Amino acid sequence: VAPDSVEPVTANFLTPPIDPTAAASLAGRGLRFALLDASDPAAFGAWFQGMTRGFHGSTVSADTLPKHLEGMAWRRMAGVWDDSAADPATPVATASSWIADLTVPGERSVPAWAISTITVAPTHRRRGIARDMLEAELRTAAKLGVPVAMLTVSEATIYARYGFAPSVFVADWKIDTRKLKWAGRTPSGRVQLVPIAAIRDDGGQALLERVRLTTPGQMQFDGHLWTRLFKTPDSEESADVRVARYDDDNGIAQGFAIYRIARDPRDVAVANVDYLLAATDDAYAALWRYLLELDLVDTVVAKLRPVAEPILWQITDARAAAKTAESDHLWTRILDVKAALEARRYSAPGHFVLEIADPLAFAAGRYLLDITDDGTATVTPSEEPADLTMNVNELSALYLGGISVVTLVQAGRIAELTPGAAVAADTSFRSAVTPWLSIWF
Ligand SMILES: CC(C)(COP(=O)(O)OP(=O)(O)OC[C@H]1O[C@@H](n2cnc3c(N)ncnc32)[C@H](O)[C@@H]1OP(=O)(O)O)[C@@H](O)C(=O)NCCC(=O)NCCS
Repeated sequence: VAPDSVEPVTANFLTPPIDPTAAASLAGRGLRFALLDASDPAAFGAWFQGMTRGFHGSTVSADTLPKHLEGMAWRRMAGVWDDSAADPATPVATASSWIADLTVPGERSVPAWAISTITVAPTHRRRGIARDMLEAELRTAAKLGVPVAMLTVSEATIYARYGFAPSVFVADWKIDTRKLKWAGRTPSGRVQLVPIAAIRDDGGQALLERVRLTTPGQMQFDGHLWTRLFKTPDSEESADVRVARYDDDNGIAQGFAIYRIARDPRDVAVANVDYLLAATDDAYAALWRYLLELDLVDTVVAKLRPVAEPILWQITDARAAAKTAESDHLWTRILDVKAALEARRYSAPGHFVLEIADPLAFAAGRYLLDITDDGTATVTPSEEPADLTMNVNELSALYLGGISVVTLVQAGRIAELTPGAAVAADTSFRSAVTPWLSIWF
């Protein structure tokens, strides 16, 4: 399955033609697998409605389609069409992808193949259409030399079979503000309420990029993935959106929180934090303190947050903050072991022979991972006996430094053949910064 030739990673993700292997496989079942021509608004409209239907969403009104097209036209969009169906214009399956920088440990980025909008119509499910589309995405990415694929998932049961594993977990928090007092630092800058546009259109993106580069698991994003954080302009939801910004002593914005106040069934106000981004510890403390001290509010709910929050150590009653959910969020899939592992930095030197199994062949092999004192790594093919053996899934889970090698050995997911190798590899792979991805895509 591995590609015969690899093109440089700078290649445009829109250029490669549809994967011929998957197209032939689907053609054998009377289905047409093709790229969507984004310059054809009618074809896009049918694709978008098919995709939305696939997620059990409502039919989108025709006058909003141009806006959706604008938000997605830059992506590589593919579909599967059944020309024998009653409505042959609407695809029976959809996929889209692009290349985005993903942050890896050591404040570095790796180009990653982002996959999104995977749907198969209920009339065509369980015939292997998703498998053909996913394998096509992986082959196309590998052919372009992209070392990692990534996605956020609707269910945790679908993507392991293609070599993906969760590498970033996220948490939902519910904080009872009646029970606590602020016990953290008191920054000298100020929190200001600002219009949505002050962050959305002016400066917010630059802040995001600064935070992204320091946090493994965060990805580069803009366009509608960015603007939707602020809700659709003029919608009912957007009327409730408040934006608080933290400016440091020099008047430079260092963080912001997007939140909405709602009333729960007991008519008690709840502050829902839709997004909180802080480039400095001061910004983090000041914004959280602002939210926790809102008058008339009993509860602060924040979803899609890092699994480790400093806030627990900044309030007088740590039990007032409950982690109400913790679950897998970003799934990664290594395609090129050498490029992927050399792109990140490591927390400790080490010398590990890793035997990687991969049913789709992209990552299969035995590799020597040699990490120097400064945390840089060289990866070479190896004939030495393996210290650790695993599937590409486990290597992909470890990649961002948030999952323990020891835990995966205990779980029987990694075999430790050299005693002590798991603890040593754990020390090297672990990221001091908890991986986090702050959006769905
Ligand atoms: C998930 C979805 C895309 C699968 O499409 P599909 O064409 O039916 O999948 P395939 O026939 O290619 O199945 C591939 C494999 O995945 C399994 N599978 C598919 N969907 C699954 C699900 N929801 N849960 C568990 N297993 C699933 C199949 O049993 C099959 O297993 P096998 O390879 O061991 O035989 C489709 O069910 C769907 O559109 N769901 C709603 C939208 C959605 O959740 N999309 C995912 C976005 S992240």
